[in-house]
Amino acid sequence: MAGPLPLGDPAPADGRLPADLSIDPAAPFSAYLHVPFCRVRCGYCDFNTYTASELRGARQDAYADTLIGEIGLARAVLSEHAPLRPLSTVFFGGGTPTLLPAGDLGRMLGAAIDAFGIVDGAEVTVEANPDTVTPAVAEELAAAGVTRMSIGMQSAVPHVLAALDRTHRPENVRTAVEAARAAGLAVSVDLIYGAPGESLEDWRASLETAVDLRPDHISAYALIIEDGTKLARQIRRGEVPAPDDDLQADMYELADTALADAGFDWYEVSNWARRSTGDAGSEKGGGDRRSRHNMAYWRGTDWWGFGPGAHSHVAGLRWWNVKHPAAYAQRLATGESPAAGAERPDAEAAQLERILLRSRMAEGLPLDDLAPEARTRVAGLIADGLVDAGAALRGTLVLTRRGRLLADAVVRALTD
Ligand SMILES: C[S@@+](CC[C@H](N)C(=O)[O-])C[C@H]1O[C@@H](n2cnc3c(N)ncnc32)[C@H](O)[C@@H]1O
Ligand code: SF4
Repeated sequence: MAGPLPLGDPAPADGRLPADLSIDPAAPFSAYLHVPFCRVRCGYCDFNTYTASELRGARQDAYADTLIGEIGLARAVLSEHAPLRPLSTVFFGGGTPTLLPAGDLGRMLGAAIDAFGIVDGAEVTVEANPDTVTPAVAEELAAAGVTRMSIGMQSAVPHVLAALDRTHRPENVRTAVEAARAAGLAVSVDLIYGAPGESLEDWRASLETAVDLRPDHISAYALIIEDGTKLARQIRRGEVPAPDDDLQADMYELADTALADAGFDWYEVSNWARRSTGDAGSEKGGGDRRSRHNMAYWRGTDWWGFGPGAHSHVAGLRWWNVKHPAAYAQRLATGESPAAGAERPDAEAAQLERILLRSRMAEGLPLDDLAPEARTRVAGLIADGLVDAGAALRGTLVLTRRGRLLADAVVRALTD
């Protein structure tokens, strides 16, 4: 199971927001819908997700109706504060959303659209495990209003998939991508690098296979060893080696070079979007293939996170739901808010978060947002090759490739 929730303050049982919360009715609004089910748990993953034997009576077949209950609560709570805003982006994440019937995902999406409305051209993403995507599923999702599918590919190399404990069949990635594309969905694939036993050549092969699929978007994450996972235990017992930082850095550089050569531009440290070809007919979202939902997180706009363990952020207030699907269903069954805790970060904490998130994006962090003392350190970061000199001259802090590899150190230098 994922790590503990933050402590924060208790959240009110009726879900009401603080009376002094000032919501900007013109700011974009997004919805994250969590689907906390997986067929098996991958050895590295600590997401808030549950296999059948861990559900403690929570019912997967009743999940959509339970979550629709939270959508009703959100509508009531938000409409007390400001005019309701239509959804700019919707993201079904997991877990494995495609373990639910497409009809359930469609009903949840329909309920969210009925409650809030949706802007023209909104981005609606569903995360999917490759083994769960058939042409029929992709078509049903597209008909329900889904526009984008994010597929957990992770690697194309069998021994790497085995080290990650992945059970999907590598050939199903292509089948899933083709099914999604045939249904008119934009396609993203997720990759992980630095698994035990993965060589630079293995990683090159995965990148080549991913590029060959012609996705619109690629996420490539360095494997993180999360406490409490099977992989962390295997490493502690000495059964498999821990990731090597230098090799992971080489893998990042290889990814950035290979993806740039294949026509993908980075727009966040771990995310690349396929460059526009200028062929408007084949472009979704006007040729911009970046994940607008993830950009909403990184830019710190407003979103409501539905489902167990989901986090929300509205007008500077953050809150998070109870973690287990059984506790979540029980709260909603008795008309109570599923929120477990809330916090309102002070100005200093909010500024730290803004620097952390914005500095990882290619659009960068306006230098004016930095405290005067932090601004004096930018010249040193440029001299060290970590920050782009040209962008800084134009008033924005943008990381170089070396800076992206050392992003945490840059943030420390700007905030210590
Ligand atoms: C919710 S999963 C995606 C969909 C689906 N559950 C799947 O895995 O096929 C989100 C992504 O997070 C990434 N991820 C999860 N745990 C990670 C870890 N410990 N280190 C790096 N990436 C991780 C994986 O790339 C995964 O595809
Ligand atoms: S399928 Fe995805 S969410 Fe489920 S355990 Fe694996 S990585 Fe985590």
